[in-house]
Amino acid sequence: MEQVKARESRACGGSELVGRWGLDPQVDYLNHGSFGACPTAVLEAQARWQRRIEREPVQFLHREIEGHLDRAREALAQFVGARSENIAFVPNATAGINTVLRSLRFEAGDEIVVNDQEYNATRNAVDFVAQQSGARVVAVALPFPIASPEVVLERMLAAFTPRTKLLVVDHITSPTGLVLPIERLVREARERGVETLVDGAHGPGHVALALEALGAAYYTGNCHKWMCTPKGSALLYVRRDLQPRIRPLAISHGANSRRTDRSLFRLEADWPGTHDPTPWLVIPEALEHLAQLLPGGWDEIRRRNRELALWARQHLCTALGVALPAPESMIGCLAALPLPDRVGPASEPLGLDPLHVALYERHGIEIPVFPWPAPPRRLIRLSAQLYNRREQYERLARVLRAELSGARA
Ligand SMILES: Cc1ncc(COP(=O)(O)O)c(C=O)c1O
Repeated sequence: MEQVKARESRACGGSELVGRWGLDPQVDYLNHGSFGACPTAVLEAQARWQRRIEREPVQFLHREIEGHLDRAREALAQFVGARSENIAFVPNATAGINTVLRSLRFEAGDEIVVNDQEYNATRNAVDFVAQQSGARVVAVALPFPIASPEVVLERMLAAFTPRTKLLVVDHITSPTGLVLPIERLVREARERGVETLVDGAHGPGHVALALEALGAAYYTGNCHKWMCTPKGSALLYVRRDLQPRIRPLAISHGANSRRTDRSLFRLEADWPGTHDPTPWLVIPEALEHLAQLLPGGWDEIRRRNRELALWARQHLCTALGVALPAPESMIGCLAALPLPDRVGPASEPLGLDPLHVALYERHGIEIPVFPWPAPPRRLIRLSAQLYNRREQYERLARVLRAELSGARA
């Protein structure tokens, strides 16, 4: 409350759809990318599932859950272009990444290729399994600004050697919001005998997916970001031929099941121990709710969000006199741009950029500013979601110009 009172300027509010979300009206929320945001109707649907469970927990969790999980998985599989038998639910992309990496066996001297824009948590998981086995992590430097997707292909494929065992690559990068050419990367890697783990934390709902056609060995993606489900909802796709080697993070009842009507992959994934399955169960309602917000459904959602992100990126670049840092073909619903270097040391206890703090505390604008590739250089990363509108980015541009010139907006 104190912070809100201290703000000097008012948020200008979101689009005509903002009322579908319970977002704070005093904040211009331009950071859907970090944790997503779930519409009120979807949260209410989740609460209905929760009440249903608590009415007779044994009946639901023991006897009924399987059918409900199957229904939710079928809807999700259709949405991401996969066969449902190749999809497992996981709570988040971090769990999906760890499930794969900690199931695989690496030998000393094996190489895992990543790039230097990989999300920190994912990179930590890669480093962990590499340290345990003596494998080597080969981190490819990707430039930003970047001229074309070919740069990614050339640099990452050039890092392959006969010892390369796995390629780990973001579908959409976290710090720079770039859509990477994963179709070509997966194909080229497979031609070289290397399987790919795609960190698609930002993929589902952000770009159209066709996971079977992609042919990646492993793809994990969050539903709680761009599909707007409640938090704790994500998928792990594992290609059929590789499923026997992938074990869940929690070994549970499925491990010694004698059932033959379902794969071990599914039996193990579906019961990770007692937990709240409603972020998974509500996926069909979330998909339907979002789809009916615009006449063109999900295609129109993705198109509209992307157009807004491109417009906002252009507007900010013009206002700040910055060249567009990446081609449009690499932009989805996130866009990053370089800001002038930070002056002075980080003053915040968490080391947050003072501009990041000022945007939120003084102006009620939620948007990340972070060091990239290393302090004092830095980026700002915008998101565009249905609840946003152009005026919010125009206000951001005015505020940024004033803050960067040392004046108050
Ligand atoms: C590229 C990437 N990978 C993984 C994650 C982790 O997602 P979660 O915290 O939902 O596990 C994120 C989160 O922003 C991300 O951007």
